[in-house]
Amino acid sequence: WQKLIPRRASDPPLVFHWLPIVGSAIAYGNDPVAFFTSCQEQYGDVFTFILLGRKVTVALGAKGNNFILGGKSTAFNAEGAYQHLTTPVFGKDVVYDVPNEIFMQQKKFVKFGLTTDNFRAYVGMIEEEVEQYMDKDPAFRTYQDNDINEWGTFDAIRTMAEITILTASRTLQGREVRSSLDKSFSDLYNDLDGGFTPLNFMFPNLPLESYRKRDRAQKKMSEFYVNIIKNRRANPDNDHHYDMIASLAEQTYRGGGPLKDHEIAHIMIALLMAGQHTSSATLAWIMLHLADRKDIADAVYQEQVERYGNPDGSFRPMLYEDLRNLPVLDSVIRETLRVHPPIHSIMRQVREDVPVPATLAAPSENGTYVIPKDTFVLASPLIAQVDPRIWKEGSQWEPTRWGDEDGIAAQALKAYTDEGGEKIDYGFGAVSKGTESPYQPFGAGKHRCIGEQFAYLQIGAIIGTLIRRIELKLPTPVPQHNYHTMIMMPKDPKTVHYRRRKFD
Ligand code: HEM
Repeated sequence: WQKLIPRRASDPPLVFHWLPIVGSAIAYGNDPVAFFTSCQEQYGDVFTFILLGRKVTVALGAKGNNFILGGKSTAFNAEGAYQHLTTPVFGKDVVYDVPNEIFMQQKKFVKFGLTTDNFRAYVGMIEEEVEQYMDKDPAFRTYQDNDINEWGTFDAIRTMAEITILTASRTLQGREVRSSLDKSFSDLYNDLDGGFTPLNFMFPNLPLESYRKRDRAQKKMSEFYVNIIKNRRANPDNDHHYDMIASLAEQTYRGGGPLKDHEIAHIMIALLMAGQHTSSATLAWIMLHLADRKDIADAVYQEQVERYGNPDGSFRPMLYEDLRNLPVLDSVIRETLRVHPPIHSIMRQVREDVPVPATLAAPSENGTYVIPKDTFVLASPLIAQVDPRIWKEGSQWEPTRWGDEDGIAAQALKAYTDEGGEKIDYGFGAVSKGTESPYQPFGAGKHRCIGEQFAYLQIGAIIGTLIRRIELKLPTPVPQHNYHTMIMMPKDPKTVHYRRRKFD
């Protein structure tokens, strides 16, 4: 019956499937890596699969990443792929709810708010939030009891999600958001987050309670931010606000006026959602790996001691400049994002027939595949990030691979950046900005992440603060990926064991 699916001779190969409509949804949904890898073996780097009635063409490898992420935005359209998921959550008139040219201006406004001055202010705030959390949260009881012999436990996801939202709200989101966290804000956040799932992605409108909750929460959340903006305007204080609300209020559109209050509100919601699961998943994976690899955890701790340790065993406070100079911690974050990039599939909608370059895939010597208009395309940088042909023991988490500038990781990237990608930046964060790279945890091209530096700062400051205070261990293996959430999370069990360090 697959012959009944309308096809042109130039269409990329169609993945074999048993169930009409459902297509390969189950194989893709359960384990996209296994599914893509087996399709790659059978069909090559470009193939089409059926996902609940939709045709999705996948392009793999560094060349596939380049084809989709570096392609023209008139041909590969992000709004067409994401708008139905994001507008009900973020709200109207921002991000994928506006023409791309407007969103690109909004993206620039956010970039203007991520200044070095603000980053300097954030590091101390993050450290303080983590300390307060450890002093208060019941999971850190043995730490609070100052018991250096007894081990306690925490759930990697829950703890890291809480620390992420506390630190993001204290810094980027602003003090009003932080002070509301203990009250209504977290309920609103949870209801809104319940609308950001694969189900919402596949079925934008279902008559379910979670969809109604999402809509109510969006309205309230929007009003909440608009009230902050109005209050600040009505009662200007003399304090400097280092947050994004303050920065967005100062921006103006090209040839137009300032952002409207509801646009600022909706951009703030978009940033909250964009940063929360991505950073907290990365933190959870880091804690699990550090607990599993005592040698690496010790190296991260020793780096803190060498750089910031006082002779009495205590530490001086972290500074933004310090964070840029911690190669061991940097390699841990970088490696975690290589093996566990939070976003495993990046989608676009094709707005015109697009030929696939013959260097990427071709049906025969003279032929060319053409991806038909209205198909969806999917890039999965994860596949290239663990490809054993590029990375030695690609699926293994091994931060030491980043330690040496002539090492295997550097060589792998150099091979690609030499072919036209931008130069590799060996500073904290930002490895390769090229669209043709086998390392793209933050995407590439026009829609590339602008939160990368903030994420590195937040994750680095949180891990530094935690590792200074506790030792870790993991009696169970590092968990497998759970692909059933929008962001790749660890499966159960994900309980990390910790013990308070002795300060002598
Ligand atoms: C885009 C990953 C943190 C804001 C992206 C994309 C990826 C990504 C892969 C590209 C999506 C696409 O092409 O469709 C990550 C990871 C993070 C992280 C791995 C943390 C470890 C953040 C944070 C913020 C943020 C903290 C906000 C402060 C954005 C924005 C975009 C984006 C505004 C642009 C979307 C577009 O242009 O379509 N991110 N992100 N991200 N991210 Fe992040």
